Amino acid sequence: MNKLVSMKNVSKTYFPHKDVPVHALNGLDLEVFEGEMVAIFGVSGSGKSTLLHIIGCLDRPTEGEYFLKDEDIKKCSDRRLAEIRNSEIGFVLQDFGLIPYRTAYENISVPFLFSKGKIKEMSGRVINVLEQFGIPELSKRKVYQMSGGQKQRVAIARALVNEPSLILADEPTGALDSSTKIEIYDIFKDLRNSGKTIIIVTHDKEVADMADRVLNMKDGALFR
Ligand SMILES: Nc1ncnc2c1ncn2[C@@H]1O[C@H](COP(=O)(O)OP(=O)(O)O)[C@@H](O)[C@H]1O
Ligand SMILES: [Mg+2]
Repeated sequence: MNKLVSMKNVSKTYFPHKDVPVHALNGLDLEVFEGEMVAIFGVSGSGKSTLLHIIGCLDRPTEGEYFLKDEDIKKCSDRRLAEIRNSEIGFVLQDFGLIPYRTAYENISVPFLFSKGKIKEMSGRVINVLEQFGIPELSKRKVYQMSGGQKQRVAIARALVNEPSLILADEPTGALDSSTKIEIYDIFKDLRNSGKTIIIVTHDKEVADMADRVLNMKDGALFR
């Protein structure tokens, strides 16, 4: 199988206050292969979101190597990173990250508008993902009028609209009640079974049980 993510000795240090470094990632290694679902477990503050941001090219490592497919991320310009983010990565966030006063259709269109896709193909693609996630009736509804589960479906549909190679999910069931969680589990199960590559940060044992591999994160490093 092809390697999609390859990280070696990656560190990330923040300087929230001058001269006081926070070592969020400490010499971390990670390999993820195409078609795998990998779950990352760890207490708050262990560096999970920092790691997802770096994998998703929202941020860069302070040190170490990161290859996404065959591309050396260290050598990429900011412009190229933005391109990679848009075409290769689908983000699903705990707080959904949607624009509240826009409709599902408009929210899902956003990544498409930033991509090189032809505008006349947009509506077909958006309608497609709305149907795939069982929410065609939400197309014209504004996000603030939706339930948590509906918002998360819209967020997942948005993450998928550009057909990314890699789906990154940061505690995607963290803000949902238990019956809604079950619906979202099914979506992730389907994504996994359809051969998508997924890296998912979670505290939710049910989500971790779906994964092909579970990695534990502690103090900015990963353990089996
Ligand atoms: N932008 C930032 N600036 C400074 N410190 C940060 C920033 N983001 C995260 N941190 C710190 O890095 C560490 C790891 O945070 P994070 O990656 O958010 O962990 P997790 O997602 O596991 O809770 C924490 O100590 C956190 O306070
Ligand atoms: Mg986090």
